[in-house]
Amino acid sequence: MTGLVVAMDGPSGSGKSSVSRGAARALGLRYLDTGAMYRAMTWWMLQQGVDLADPAAVAARCGEPAIVSGTDPDGPAIHVDGVDVAEPIRRAEVTGAVSAVAAVPEVRARLVALQREIIGAGDIVVEGRDIGSVVWPRAAVKIYLTASAQARARRRSAEVAGSTVEAQQEAMARRDTLDSTRKTDPLSMAAGAIELDTTALTLDEVVAEVLRLVKERT
Ligand code: DC
Repeated sequence: MTGLVVAMDGPSGSGKSSVSRGAARALGLRYLDTGAMYRAMTWWMLQQGVDLADPAAVAARCGEPAIVSGTDPDGPAIHVDGVDVAEPIRRAEVTGAVSAVAAVPEVRARLVALQREIIGAGDIVVEGRDIGSVVWPRAAVKIYLTASAQARARRRSAEVAGSTVEAQQEAMARRDTLDSTRKTDPLSMAAGAIELDTTALTLDEVVAEVLRLVKERT
């Protein structure tokens, strides 16, 4: 189906990235990771020495970096001012700082505009926190992925070398609170979204369920 937009929202560790990429591949769609764009903005702010505790300073500079996102589900690329930042944006330094940057309204306005440009004519699976609610409320399919706090922490600690489930659970709880209580576009389930609890499911099972939902709704 042409023009299809699948909005995939949910907290970290719910399986959004793997599920979104798997579904995009199976459906022959593009893929956009909007979290990577907030991470790229944060990476740039850290490089520039911007004081992230000062929202006015973040707001004043957020128009400067050129953030370019690829949409290939097999190798999602992200560049800032021509520099490939796919690896550094996953470092703990960025992960620990991104919620503060993502809470600044001017940052969100700029990145949401960029995201809408990329989504354009559709044929894309878009993952984030506010895709179904803010970025693309008219998405044909809106999915909200969840999983128990324990399952999410287990998955994340398997991805991050040297981390424990307990430490991940604590860090995630902190991030979730920041992301869901911020004033601008907090993480929330969009109207019309279908909640999918992935706690007891394998990746293949979740992707199969997403494909079924897409077929049912298009
Ligand atoms: O999905 P992730 O962990 O890469 O997201 C990084 C951060 O960006 C996370 O703290 C929430 C924020 N984010 C957001 O506010 N809105 C989005 N659409 C995507 C991510």
